[in-house]
Amino acid sequence: MDGTVRGPADTRFWQRARRHMLNYGGDFVPFVPARAEGAFLYDASGRRVLDFTSGQMSAILGHSHPEIVATVRDAVGRLDHLFSSMLSAPVVDLAEALAALVPELPRVMLLSTGGEANEAAIRLAKLVTGKWEIVGFAQSWHGMTGGAAAATYKAGRRGIGPLAPGNFAVPAPNAFRPRFAAVSWQQELDDAFDLLDRQSTGNLAAFIAEPILSSGGVIDLPVGYLNALSAHCRARGMKLILDEAQTGVGRTGLMFAFERDGVVPDILTLSKTLGAGLPLSAVMTSDAMAAEAAARDFLFYTTHVNDPLPAAVGLKVLEIVQRDGLAERAKAMGARLAAGLRGLQQRYACVGDVRGRGLLMGLEFCTAGGRDAAAISDAVTDLALELGLSANIVRAGASGGVMRIAPPLTVSEAEIDLGVELLGAAIGRVMGSD
Ligand SMILES: Cc1ncc(COP(=O)(O)O)c(C=O)c1O
Repeated sequence: MDGTVRGPADTRFWQRARRHMLNYGGDFVPFVPARAEGAFLYDASGRRVLDFTSGQMSAILGHSHPEIVATVRDAVGRLDHLFSSMLSAPVVDLAEALAALVPELPRVMLLSTGGEANEAAIRLAKLVTGKWEIVGFAQSWHGMTGGAAAATYKAGRRGIGPLAPGNFAVPAPNAFRPRFAAVSWQQELDDAFDLLDRQSTGNLAAFIAEPILSSGGVIDLPVGYLNALSAHCRARGMKLILDEAQTGVGRTGLMFAFERDGVVPDILTLSKTLGAGLPLSAVMTSDAMAAEAAARDFLFYTTHVNDPLPAAVGLKVLEIVQRDGLAERAKAMGARLAAGLRGLQQRYACVGDVRGRGLLMGLEFCTAGGRDAAAISDAVTDLALELGLSANIVRAGASGGVMRIAPPLTVSEAEIDLGVELLGAAIGRVMGSD
């Protein structure tokens, strides 16, 4: 990133953008949506782009879902924001609805962003254990605020001075590109904890994990991994925090990804998908953790904690996801998407791997036809956008790029097929075979 705002040079919009926008994470996309509806974005000229990232992996109901629009309109005109110590019906209703989904974690606080929820979760774990060492995966993304950023290893650690001391990273298991060939994930995990034990000062407080490391390249933890991780945590008195920012609320085919493994964390954080595109996050924990935290004066007092408007949205999101069976739909549509992507893998040698669960899929490019994987993935992403498909590339250093594909759970079969077709056309043109 060079601080330049790119885009069509000749438009007044991009001239103004270039003059006034602060870059915060690479280049801006050279497509300017003027409105969004369902799975599509439209620019001012009416050109449409299929949104296969659900915005920032959040808009699980698609854009401008009529019931969400109605809920926001009603809430903003009736009960929007309150003094942070005041509770309201939508907040308690949402807490109750979340607790019904995870009865082991009936104590809930509502915040705005994923980073904030992880910040609160880490603070809670430190306070309750009286310890302060936090462990995460080397490919993790948990947010940009202090504690969450200190547990984020995917990017952003340089040039900002010290991060919180006592943070450690362990490798996430990568079946496609194993760190050490012929070493099982069990051996890798045991070895990681052995190293942790040697480095720890005896203050291990928590492990924070995404069940599928999304920004890290859609790395799905294998069946059994969460159980083994949880056992390692229990053996050391560490709390297990699961961050289901992207996997929660139906995306993987279950309400929460951890349900596949039958492992309930000590703390669960939800964000992105809970507000379906509006800023809402949640921290959920057990009665025992909540009691201990209260005894130790847990403080996480923010301006928008337990605000009624986003809570009303979250409640409506849960209602729609459950009523319309969207988790099951994610499973069915995800199978269709996976079959389409595997078809592309068979057709094009540059598609190295297709992985993921439900409607959170990754397609990893590899070097082919004498071309570097990263160059192929960048070119495919750019061309796909030109052809009318937005899917985003996770830059993975030497391993090239992983395309993250996460359409709304409301996506239709025709839209899945269109997305696969556009992606295939982009790959074909980049590889010079179509
Ligand atoms: C797994 C995960 N956790 C947390 C975050 C941070 O959420 P936010 O950007 O809302 O602070 C992200 C954002 O990409 C994420 O993917």
